[in-house]
Amino acid sequence: MKIKTEEITKTDILTEVLNGLSKSPKMLPSKLFYDKKGSKLFDEICELEEYYPTRTEIQIMQNNIIEMGELLGEGTMLIELGSGNSQKIKLLLDHIPGLAGYIPVDISSEHLISSSKILKEEYPHISIFPLVADYTKYFELPLIDKPYDHRAVYFPGSTIGNFTINEAKEFLNRIADIVGENGGLIIGVDLKKDKQILEAAYNDKKGITAAFNLNILNHINDELHSNFNINNFKHFAFFNEEISRIEMHLICETEHVVNIGQSSFIFNKDEHIITEYSYKYTLEDFKNIASDRFDVKRVWIDDYKLFSVQYLKVKD
Ligand code: TRP
Repeated sequence: MKIKTEEITKTDILTEVLNGLSKSPKMLPSKLFYDKKGSKLFDEICELEEYYPTRTEIQIMQNNIIEMGELLGEGTMLIELGSGNSQKIKLLLDHIPGLAGYIPVDISSEHLISSSKILKEEYPHISIFPLVADYTKYFELPLIDKPYDHRAVYFPGSTIGNFTINEAKEFLNRIADIVGENGGLIIGVDLKKDKQILEAAYNDKKGITAAFNLNILNHINDELHSNFNINNFKHFAFFNEEISRIEMHLICETEHVVNIGQSSFIFNKDEHIITEYSYKYTLEDFKNIASDRFDVKRVWIDDYKLFSVQYLKVKD
């Protein structure tokens, strides 16, 4: 199994962090949540009582997997963006008739290498072409020395909600380019719902979400030798109803200076850093943002209308 790597350098990370902190309000790139500790904390979030998305999405997948496999169809080359949860991908690998191959794409080479090896042992008959890349930017698929009929992207977890509306549109258009003619997309989309349910999901009682949000600062310290002190910040998440998004913030509790590389940044008391948005869509809104290049062919939802998994096809 050959692994293609598109290098992500320290300079890229430094540039992105400096850019984000130069904005007003200050922002940080949310992909930096996922170092070793962050990935572990996120796994814990997915198990929380309050955090409904992961288990609801898995349930929807389990209940409808035969139909999903059939819709994707014979000869699919399956591309997974952010190969995080092996439980979900295994469902698809098991149920696509005549699957041609699987291309997991992930930003973390460590994670990708270990999970691809484990999958290869369990699925020796499936061709796996792992690709280390930041899928939020332009990337090229690895060379595939195997015939297939069409490509399909699997993009679970409602990560699409972490883009702004314009970014999400551009991203979906890029996915259409990647899958090309006859291409498909299976995507998890979290739905707009009661504010209480949403806010509880991002403010769990055990404080795991708070630890996860704050850990982004430790990760940046490790990568860039900066001197953030997480004790100077506190986690804050709320549902912004007009814009239909959860906003994750870190609020600075005392005025101080943080040094990163050659730069220093003043943090005022009560100043906010935005770490992530999580947009919550109505089915209608999502259909509209995908409509440049995709038709929504099938929507599966749970009984409580919390979450949706959708099958889209590139327009002819
Ligand atoms: N992408 C996930 C989401 O939008 C990540 C997430 C869950 C998250 N809980 C969080 C990000 C708390 C920051 C803080 O649901």
